[in-house]
Amino acid sequence: MRLMTRASLACTLLAGVAWGMAGFPSPAHAEETKSEELFTLGMKNLLPPELFDRNLVVTVGEPLAAAIVQPIVFPHDRHVKVLGMDCQYCHSNARKGIHAGVPPESVCMGCHALVDTTDRPELVKLKDYWAKGEAIPWKKVHDLPDYVYFSHKRHVVAGLACQECHGEVQDMTVDQRVASLKMGWCLDCHAQHPSIDQNYGTQAELRRAELKDCWTCHK
Ligand code: HEC
Ligand code: HEC
Ligand code: HEC
Ligand code: HEC
Ligand code: HEC
Repeated sequence: MRLMTRASLACTLLAGVAWGMAGFPSPAHAEETKSEELFTLGMKNLLPPELFDRNLVVTVGEPLAAAIVQPIVFPHDRHVKVLGMDCQYCHSNARKGIHAGVPPESVCMGCHALVDTTDRPELVKLKDYWAKGEAIPWKKVHDLPDYVYFSHKRHVVAGLACQECHGEVQDMTVDQRVASLKMGWCLDCHAQHPSIDQNYGTQAELRRAELKDCWTCHK
């Protein structure tokens, strides 16, 4: 986990608020503001450029196993594509709270108590964790710094698909990160996601303004 002092973030936030006020569109400047392709451009003078990095940190198709070795090699493709399981069968907290969560071993054992383990060392490991009553120590694939507020609930309830942020997980033999998770990534989507027009209609512009407010993500 990466940490920064609250004081230093607060300072930058204040600078951001000042920037926000300076950049507040008066009617005369409304046209100019509109023509700005993405509002993130206006922030670039103020903040370190790497925050706007949109490059993928991991190439799709390149196994993350090279970077993160999970205690059990868990194949998403087999469960989702072959067995037809819904993401939220295992990540059931995604529409209820901040974290999507990783399922407890009891969810796995609902099926795996019955699945043959012959010549399947990964399943032997699963049964060993279960027999010992130990939680599988999964390593995090996605991890935002603690000073960023992100909640799954709001995004999932708004109708976003998991794949918009996590990529084609149903095709992954090992879960891997496909987005930078940098501020520019969040802001780009907040500036233009079609669900905002669909869900907010005439209030969409207002909602978009809220979604670029520093305090929305830095509480
Ligand atoms: C059978 C249960 C199961 C199903 C179904 C499932 N997952 Fe997972 N998921 C897991 C487990 C276990 C992990 C932890 C191991 C790993 O990271 O590969 C995980 C990890 C993840 C992670 C990475 C978590 C992190 O550490 O950042 C994402 C993202 C994810 N799943 C998304 C999805 C999506 C999207 C779907 C549907 C397309 C899905 N999962 C379906 C069990 C499941
Ligand atoms: C708007 C983008 C977005 C959408 C949509 C989204 N996620 Fe995530 N997900 C993230 C981010 C960002 C993180 C890292 C959160 C953190 O580190 O606090 C994350 C983390 C996770 C994790 C790791 C455990 C956790 O909750 O921190 C899992 C599992 C996961 N997502 C599954 C899903 C599933 C399943 C769906 C669809 C039902 C989904 N996500 C939809 C952005 C998204
Ligand atoms: C709905 C039932 C179901 C659930 C729930 C489920 N699995 Fe599976 N899983 C299966 C089946 C069936 C297979 C075997 C598919 C095949 O024959 O290729 C499998 C295959 C696997 C494999 C691949 C084994 C190999 O080497 O071929 C692993 C690892 C695995 N599961 C782990 C897990 C874990 C960990 C969980 C809980 C997070 C989980 N499963 C939840 C039904 C399930
Ligand atoms: C793929 C598009 C997309 C990405 C990427 C995305 N968001 Fe969002 N986010 C949305 C949409 C759409 C909404 C508005 C949901 C609504 O109000 O219906 C939203 C709303 C929010 C909210 C408001 C929640 C509330 O309670 O009002 C926060 C906070 C937020 N996002 C944080 C983040 C952060 C932090 C990131 C990056 C780590 C991120 N989002 C990435 C699409 C996205
Ligand atoms: C939609 C969500 C979102 C909004 C709105 C947002 N940020 Fe961020 N911000 C993030 C995310 C995500 C990161 C983490 C990037 C990373 O991991 O490097 C971040 C990181 C930062 C950092 C870097 C801290 C450090 O030490 O690395 C600063 C400074 C910052 N934001 C300032 C601002 C200011 C000022 C505003 C308003 C003008 C703002 N942010 C609006 C999501 C947001």
